[in-house]
Formats: sequence, C-alpha cells, structure tokens
Amino acid sequence: MDYSDSRHKPHFLGKVLMAAILTALCIFILKQSPGFSGDSMFSRHEPGVTHVLVTGGAGYIGSHAALRLLKESYRVTIVDNLSRGNIGAIKVLQELFPEPGRLQFIYADLGDAKAVNQIFAQNAFDAVMHFAAVAYVGESTLEPLRYYHNITANTLVILEAMAAHGVKTLIYSSTCATYGEPEKMPITEETPQFPINPYGKAKKMAEDIILDFSKNADMAVMILRYFNVIGSDPEGRLGEAPRPELREHGRISGACFDAALGIIPGLKVKGADYPTADGTCVRDYIDVTDLVDAHVKALDMARPNKVSIYNVGTGKGRSVKEFVEACKKATGANIKVEYLDRRPGDYAEVYSDPSKINRELNWTAQYTDLQESLSIAWKWQKSHRNGYGSPSVMTA
Ligand SMILES: NC(=O)c1ccc[n+]([C@@H]2O[C@H](COP(=O)([O-])OP(=O)(O)OC[C@H]3O[C@@H](n4cnc5c(N)ncnc54)[C@H](O)[C@@H]3O)[C@@H](O)[C@H]2O)c1
Repeated sequence: MDYSDSRHKPHFLGKVLMAAILTALCIFILKQSPGFSGDSMFSRHEPGVTHVLVTGGAGYIGSHAALRLLKESYRVTIVDNLSRGNIGAIKVLQELFPEPGRLQFIYADLGDAKAVNQIFAQNAFDAVMHFAAVAYVGESTLEPLRYYHNITANTLVILEAMAAHGVKTLIYSSTCATYGEPEKMPITEETPQFPINPYGKAKKMAEDIILDFSKNADMAVMILRYFNVIGSDPEGRLGEAPRPELREHGRISGACFDAALGIIPGLKVKGADYPTADGTCVRDYIDVTDLVDAHVKALDMARPNKVSIYNVGTGKGRSVKEFVEACKKATGANIKVEYLDRRPGDYAEVYSDPSKINRELNWTAQYTDLQESLSIAWKWQKSHRNGYGSPSVMTA
C-alpha cells in the first residue's frame, strides 16, 4: 500500500501540474490570437459610442475608412482574411489608436458563416461598413465563380448575421461597374444597371439581395457606388498595396507607379480607338479621402426603414492619356507608354452625376485633383517600395 502510494502520488501531482500548465498555455495562446477580445468594451453597447464593423479593413479603402472613423471617435472592429489586405495597415492603425476599446482586428473569412456569426455574437456592433471583396474586373472574367462567392454569397452571410443579431445599419461598397456600359452619360442612380462582367454582376446581385432584405426589416441602408478610386492618406500613414501577383489585373494608378519605379518597363494602355476625345477610355477618378468622407456622411445620415443609393464620383471624366500625363508630372518620371488593342470587358466612357449625394448628404469631392491625388499616393509608394513590408527609400 505504502509502496503503491509513494509511486502514484508524484504521478498524480505530475498530471495536475501538466493540466495547469496546459490550461495556462491555452489561455496565453487565446489571448495572443487576433480574435480574442480580452477587452469587453467591444462586446457592450455604450451610449454615445458607435461601434462599426469594417469588413476588409486591411485593404486599401477599408483601412483609410477605419482611420477616418477612429479619428472621429468611432469604435472600430476590422474583420479581414488578409487574402488581399495587409497586416501592416492594421499595425499602423493599432499604433495610432492603442487605447482600449478603440480598435480590434479579427482575422476571419467572411465565407465562414459560423465564424461570422460568432463574431456578431461576441461583439456589439451598431453598424457595418462592408468593404471586403475581391475587386478586379479582369480577374472576374477569368474566375467568375470566385467573384460570385466572395462578393454575392459573402454579402448574404453578413446580412444573415446582421439579421440574427439585430444590427440594423449597413453601408455597402458598390461600384459603377454595376451600370455596365450605359448609352447616356453622366450616370445617375436611375441609370439602368446592365453589368457586363462578373465583378459588376456579383455586386449588382449583392445590391439586389440587400434591397429585398431591407424591404421587411427596419434597416438603415446606404449603397455607395464608387467610381475609380485613387490617392492615399495625405499624412502618408496608409497607401494602396495590392499583392504583386495582382499587378497584371491592377488599376491604372498602380501601373503608373510601377512604371515610374522601374518595376515594369512602361505602361500598356489598352485601347486608343475608343469613341472618346483622344481615343483612350474615360473614367471618373475619386480621391480616397473624399470617398471615406462620403462613408462617414452616409453613416451619419442613415435612418431606419430608409435605403439610399448614391454615386460617389466627381462628375468629371478624365481620359487615360490625361491620367498618364498627370502621373508623369506627379512622379517626375518619363513613363514609356505603349498603346495596345482594347481589353475585353472595358467600357469607353464612364462618369457620374453626383448631384444626388451633393444634395442629400451635402457631400462634394473636395480633395480630388488628379495630379495632387497622384502626388500624395506617389510619396507613399516611393517610400514603401515593398508595400507594407520592410520600408525602403528610393534613390531616384
Ligand atoms: N478600388 C476601387 O477603385 C473600387 C471601386 C469601386 C468599388 N470598390 C469596392 O471597394 C471595396 C474595397 O476595395 P479595395 O480597393 O479597398 O480592395 P482591397 O483588395 O484593397 O481590399 C479588400 C479587402 O477585403 C479583404 N477580403 C477579401 N475577401 C475577404 C473575405 N472573404 N473575408 C474577409 N476579408 C476579405 C481583403 O483581404 C482586403 O483586405 C470592394 O468592395 C470593392 O469592390 C473599389
């Protein structure tokens, strides 16, 4: 008996000790995990504090919106799967707003309905700004199912979670691509929507789902249809840093900067025989600072049982040739330009009529100036050759 006791006691104590160590380890790991909110401020509604869920907040527009919301004293939760966004942008925001209850980052995929539902169960959101999406027209023609899944199906997941947890305010990132190629310019919110690529179609379907759902729910919904977004934070804290492998699908500003940095030999302009003044495509460029301003105004003006749709653009079309000239001036680089055949899925001319948002939200584009917006973005690009990776300084 004595013999067996003396053998079992240390064994039992060892087990208890091991269990205690494992428990402590689990708590430590849980606390380190991005989704863990030891700070219960996020899980309680607080009078006078609006808690906004920013999906896609590690991305280009979402990070700028989060910065603006935080500056305006909103409480912000960012959910992102970092598939296209940057943890570096989150770190910048966390360093700027380290105080408890200001910002939390949750790493999650919006396609995972269980995870999304759990996030809504654990957090007291007052509103959702839904930015997260894959967003390249060219890529959408190659991988349509990915686009319908990521944009349309994931919006459904968000709406179901909002309905289940009583979150009533939604600001939705839509796009002028939902209009397709209308015959009449400028595009108003009444212009019929006939999208011509899977990206535009997926966004249009998401809009339709939101509109149908909001008919029987006392939701406050603002659908913002952005035109072409350029620029970055004027104070140089954030920028646009898409994955290098997405460069081929990328937007014109990224390509201009890559050409100016010597990453690519020059610019390939697809199509110089469009029925426009100089033969190149015409677009309505809007600075990201103006765009996030529209979001804050939309959030402020969102009311229950009201769905509003707004174009967010300047109302002025600028050609690709004009854009390239502005980019040359902004970067000081002599960018080589090669004109190629048209790209399938591109439309000749797209510009907005922003009078509805001017009138109803008292919003106008105040910061958008092609050359100035590009100069600001260029400053960030120059000092962040590796995006949010290790900093680098340009020599030329
Ligand atoms: N950039 C433009 O010119 C433009 C124009 C019109 C509309 N939009 C819309 O604005 C929104 C933001 O675009 P952006 O340019 O900032 O793109 P972005 O790629 O920089 O950001 C999108 C973010 O969403 C995240 N994301 C994607 N799928 C996700 C998922 N399943 N779960 C969680 N996170 C996910 C990405 O990781 C990324 O951080 C998109 O909805 C886009 O369609 C953009």
